[in-house]
Amino acid sequence: MSHPSTVSGLLTDVRQVGRDARRGGYSRFTYSDADLELREWFVAEASRRSLDVDVDRNGAIWAWRPGPGGSLEDAVVTGSHVDSVPGGGEFDGPLGIASALVAVDHLDASGARLDRPLAVVLFPEEEGARFGQACLGSQLMTGAFDPVAALDLRDVDGVSLAEALRRGGIDPTRLGRDDQALSRIGAFVELHVEQGRGLIDLGQPVAIASSIIGHGLWRLTVSGEGNHAGATAMDHRRDPLVAAAAVIALVRDAAREVPGARATVGRVQPIPGGTNVIASRVDVWVDVRHDDDQVARSLVSTIFDRARRAAALEGCDVTLTEQSYGGSVDFDPTLRDRLAAVLPEAPILRSGAGHDAGVLADVVPTAMLFTRNPTGISHSPEEQIEEADAESGAAALADVLRDLLTLDEAPPASTPGRP
Ligand code: GLV
Ligand code: MN
Ligand code: MN
Repeated sequence: MSHPSTVSGLLTDVRQVGRDARRGGYSRFTYSDADLELREWFVAEASRRSLDVDVDRNGAIWAWRPGPGGSLEDAVVTGSHVDSVPGGGEFDGPLGIASALVAVDHLDASGARLDRPLAVVLFPEEEGARFGQACLGSQLMTGAFDPVAALDLRDVDGVSLAEALRRGGIDPTRLGRDDQALSRIGAFVELHVEQGRGLIDLGQPVAIASSIIGHGLWRLTVSGEGNHAGATAMDHRRDPLVAAAAVIALVRDAAREVPGARATVGRVQPIPGGTNVIASRVDVWVDVRHDDDQVARSLVSTIFDRARRAAALEGCDVTLTEQSYGGSVDFDPTLRDRLAAVLPEAPILRSGAGHDAGVLADVVPTAMLFTRNPTGISHSPEEQIEEADAESGAAALADVLRDLLTLDEAPPASTPGRP
């Protein structure tokens, strides 16, 4: 292809896919119709660029430009995800995929020599919005998540991951650590929409990531006594939703006491959830983040202790279940310095959001780029990208890939645990 397409042009092609009229924004849940349409779009765009497509055991789609002699080893890999949170923005995920495709166009148009293979990868279930496990595809691939436990995962409608995978044409019996897929990756660079205001404040379109804050999800289950809204006197209630209201406020207060901590309740589910019913149980999901994993865990135990006390005042009990935890990540410093040499204007920013790149960083040299988001808002329909910034991001990614693909020296292999 001699004329590179544009990031905004590619994203315009899928702008209607997965729009959520009720919540606003997009709900693109993994292996839903919207997600399958986006996966097909990616395969079509990869094929248009004569990239060779394969789907790995964990459902990631790979689009390859093989290296000399058709080799797929020691590849430079870029990519991201297309699934979204409920009512999410247009760019969290798809920007990285569209930018990767445009970066391939730039490399083709410039006739860059590819001394190593190049691949674009699309990871499934990055948000965990359907099955509750963030970065499920990359975690299965690296072995960070147990495939047997994965088969127990169900969405809110009770559909199992196995059923959803079959719908996506993936054999659920083959999930698990994929050494063959991992051994092909020499370096991974993910481009992502920025999810904060760093680039706005610094007046730059593109940044390089330094680190990702540690991130976990816990479920507090508050149990009381289900009963009738009209027939139960106010003094005779054990209402877990009243206790849950106190829990939500104390989560915020406890996090405020810990410098650098973030804690959020974004989802609450009363059971059974009738308007004229005192709930019998309420599930409260608590997202906790901190750079220091010990501090994050100690904050969770503070929250649990206080939640138990608050619930006891309402005659209720609380249990705590850890749903997922990903420790803080420092990206490979050698690879990061190499990106900084290619993009000397780009500031170095930390990420408050989780990414598949954070999972891969445990096993392969990994880096990230961020493209400016003029609202600084993400996980919301307000997330934005300006066209010029999107193209700058793709061009920066192309420059980084060109450097990694053509230098004599292999990218650093200093990260431990690489297969
Ligand atoms: C993913 O975007 C997360 O940080 O929750
Ligand atoms: Mn996200
Ligand atoms: Mn993302």
